Amino acid sequence: MIKYLGSKRRLLDLIGDAVRRLAAGPTVLDLFSGTSRVGHALKGRGYRVVANDHNAFAHTLARCYVAADRDSVEGSARQLIDEFNRLPAAPGYFTDTFCVQSRFFQPKNGGRVDAVREAIAAKLLPPDLEAVMLVSLMEAADRVDSTTGVQMAYLKQWAKRSYNPLQLRLPAMLNAAANRRCQAHHLEALEAASTIEADCAYLDPPYNQHSYLGNYHIWESICRWDQPEVYGIACKRIDCKLNKSDYNSKPRSLPALTELISRLRTPNLIVSFSNEGFIDRSAMEHLLMQKGHLQTIELDHKRYVGAQIGIYNPKGHRTGIASHLRNKEYIYIVSVHPLNLAGLDQRQATPGDKSRLVA
Ligand SMILES: C[S@@+](CC[C@H](N)C(=O)[O-])C[C@H]1O[C@@H](n2cnc3c(N)ncnc32)[C@H](O)[C@@H]1O
Repeated sequence: MIKYLGSKRRLLDLIGDAVRRLAAGPTVLDLFSGTSRVGHALKGRGYRVVANDHNAFAHTLARCYVAADRDSVEGSARQLIDEFNRLPAAPGYFTDTFCVQSRFFQPKNGGRVDAVREAIAAKLLPPDLEAVMLVSLMEAADRVDSTTGVQMAYLKQWAKRSYNPLQLRLPAMLNAAANRRCQAHHLEALEAASTIEADCAYLDPPYNQHSYLGNYHIWESICRWDQPEVYGIACKRIDCKLNKSDYNSKPRSLPALTELISRLRTPNLIVSFSNEGFIDRSAMEHLLMQKGHLQTIELDHKRYVGAQIGIYNPKGHRTGIASHLRNKEYIYIVSVHPLNLAGLDQRQATPGDKSRLVA
């Protein structure tokens, strides 16, 4: 899967176990699905997952990893991957924007992205297969990028991996459990919360000012293939200036979450949030306690890779070091029924991480 800030890769077991303890039924709504790792893991545990994200690239990831079923697309996807891996480079918008005007990818790989993306468009594929091929292309590009994991800037010197040839692979799709076809939506979270019923909801909203559209604008442009006007050193899509999430705004984040929670049509709820976010723990607990019984799990872990590496200016010069290298992630678990989550905090942390359940 792609490198993604705030991905819950390390928390999948904990979230899966929490859902199992909470959910009286099979349907789980992942309202801010991002990479869809969480939805994918829950689908693997047999849940009927309904994923949602307002960015097109994240919706595409959910169409592939949550909505599409492996058996129905695998054969065709393998044939297309073989065909596309033999396509010669055909430099176009992508190469010019992300390899010449900026240096996110080596031109030889940019030309292959252009060729494969045009081929996907020309084939007019059925929706599930189209999503699988777009994810295969996104992941192939992610393996040869020259960034620290976000697309706000590229490295001054080419990353070692950027010299590798772009190579498409089959994404790790799953089959849904019997009669539990999963779905992917492309809605504002508030609309999804107001209209989709589920037995449990998982909420992992952005926690600070950094926009996911701005951080992953290249994936958005690959998926939408609308070849937009770009601006700045990072050649961001012009709509990054307009399409903002309330969760990226300090004054709007808590009111937005408050309204969202009030609209949710689920008896059980799990919320992930960082201690570095706009909503502090006491405000979050105050909000969630109005919805039902609450328990909070506190996880202490390493900050994202950028903080480990240091702070750089756009020219690639180191201008500072991060003030701290560890942070806390809170998992808030809420139910209309009394909770018994004893033991849930015992086994989920990766080495070096610490966790504790706080009633
Ligand atoms: C912290 S990430 C989710 C990470 C995800 N749980 C994972 O493991 O990959 C937050 C996601 O919320 C999405 N998002 C932000 N604001 C939104 C909104 N108002 N409605 C729907 N999705 C939103 C972003 O596109 C981003 O993918």
